[in-house]
Amino acid sequence: MKVTISKLHSYKNNKKITMITAYDALFAKMFDNIIDTILVGDSLNMSFYGENDTVSATLEQMIYHTKAVCNGAKNAYIISDMPFGTYQTPQNALINATKIFKETKADAIKLEGGKEKAQTIKLLTDNAIAVVAHIGLMPQFSRSEGGYKVKGKDEQSKIKLLEDAKALEEAGAVMLVIEGVKEEVAQEITKNLKIPVIGIGAGRYTDGQVLVWSDMLGFFDEFKPKFVKRYLNGAEIVKNAVKNYINDVEDSKFPTEAEIY
Ligand code: KIV
Repeated sequence: MKVTISKLHSYKNNKKITMITAYDALFAKMFDNIIDTILVGDSLNMSFYGENDTVSATLEQMIYHTKAVCNGAKNAYIISDMPFGTYQTPQNALINATKIFKETKADAIKLEGGKEKAQTIKLLTDNAIAVVAHIGLMPQFSRSEGGYKVKGKDEQSKIKLLEDAKALEEAGAVMLVIEGVKEEVAQEITKNLKIPVIGIGAGRYTDGQVLVWSDMLGFFDEFKPKFVKRYLNGAEIVKNAVKNYINDVEDSKFPTEAEIY
């Protein structure tokens, strides 16, 4: 059955919400019906395209991958990331989010930013576009901030996060993703908000968790952030399987009689 935003809201304080990224129909289909929500994250620019950050992701890229995910997953609640540079003003956010909604079957868009994005969220919400907000460590700010910095480490940063979260909820955000934040701050934000708060590197007390699929399944094995738990050694399994194939071809063990016409 299709996961709706009201279903996700009903999970608050009752059941943890699960979210995973996906960028294509193949993986989306595997995750569908077992996961609550799928995020077509602009992290695809790094894990799929091999770029160093998410900043160069484009709207066309996000639409292409969101379409693919929507083709694969019929029941998960699907969120599409708005890439860097597509929502600097409420007006261009409305134009670009409308394009995502028109050209894909995404249930919501996600954008990064604190209370300065409240007006944008209100405008999108008023125009029937559901918005998931993203605060804390915001990957689209990694170049301007000179790296990936954990947030909420001091009182000032904590107060800013609490104020941002409240303002984004009041503006109409349907969910909040909070990334790279001290556990106690994420816990307080989760307690203060009525909407579900989904954490990534934000500790144990949020309403749900999100992980990037290639990190948690070990396909991206060059580096493992502290907050990631690996559930599979994907890269190793794939490399071994490909080596077996190479050996079989080289030793003329593939194809056999079973694989010929
Ligand atoms: O792009 C992405 O995958 C994300 C998650 C890290 C939350 O925004």
